[in-house]
Amino acid sequence: MNGLRLFPVAASVNAKGVDALFLGILALSVLIVLLVTGLVVTFASRYRQGSTANRGELPKAFSREVEIGWTVATLFLALFIFWFASSSQLQAITPPKNALEIHVVAKQWMWKLQHPSGVREINALHVPVGIPVKLIMTSQDTIHDFYVPAFRMKQDVLPGRYTQEWFTATKTGTFPLRCAEYCGTDHSAMGGEVVVMRPDDYARWTAAQPLAAVDLAGQGSRLYASLGCGSCHNGGAARVAAPSLTGLYGTPVRLADGRTVTADEDYLRQSIVEPQQVPVAGYPQAMPSYVKAVDEQGVVALIAYLRVLGAPAVRSRMQETAGRPIAAPPSSGESTAGAGT
Ligand code: CUA
Repeated sequence: MNGLRLFPVAASVNAKGVDALFLGILALSVLIVLLVTGLVVTFASRYRQGSTANRGELPKAFSREVEIGWTVATLFLALFIFWFASSSQLQAITPPKNALEIHVVAKQWMWKLQHPSGVREINALHVPVGIPVKLIMTSQDTIHDFYVPAFRMKQDVLPGRYTQEWFTATKTGTFPLRCAEYCGTDHSAMGGEVVVMRPDDYARWTAAQPLAAVDLAGQGSRLYASLGCGSCHNGGAARVAAPSLTGLYGTPVRLADGRTVTADEDYLRQSIVEPQQVPVAGYPQAMPSYVKAVDEQGVVALIAYLRVLGAPAVRSRMQETAGRPIAAPPSSGESTAGAGT
């Protein structure tokens, strides 16, 4: 750490591409500035008042070739930059399927993070090196932005919906985590660190944490029971007919207004906090909003549980990551202490 440091360390797979793009465009801009300045100075000097330079007509054919030449060349240059930038961006927003999923809830002014094992952290994120990590993020109040300069990664975190980003760390160490969206008085103090560890250290760290009694899906399962979701959704003892939630995640849902949507995180979240916006076709619109009953972390846990009830593939992967069996769907009416915060 000596001398002037123009760049933060590059500690993710994506960082090299972002730096290459930045430096490439910077170099190109410098070249163009030099070229234009050079021509301005040259012409200003050659055609200054009183100079004897030739001011006759330009050779026509030659000037047409120059026009076409530079137009086509710059067109292809711009297209190349577009291709280079968009392919690296597309890669940056498409997480690999096997990524470790971490839930992020931002609030004024802290980052709350939760691992699939149920381990929670505040303003610190421990991750293994060399393994893709996907962040599923939402905000409890205003807009924040999850920004890790060393990973060249920045994504807005919005209230009322989920955004995601992912990275694969390439270096172990501690890297600053920032909020990159003005979010109120203590915005500049809203930060923390990302600690990248060797996978065996990460496993040891995870084991040493005061484990939440149950994993995320397990917390969701308890919440599901304590809120009494099953009394409508579990069929059997139903007072009100409501769609079954087993196998729902990831499948298409037909809404009363004729739209068909996919039961993804955003849809499930909306169904919990503002169900009147997404009434399911064929059922009475009887579900009240649970926005007051559960906070964002509770919603995250409920969705984690619904995912487990969803596709069998997700179920087995969650079991692998969580390292323990996933709670079975609770029977309706069962009541346990609320999980969530
Ligand atoms: Cu949170 Cu700025």
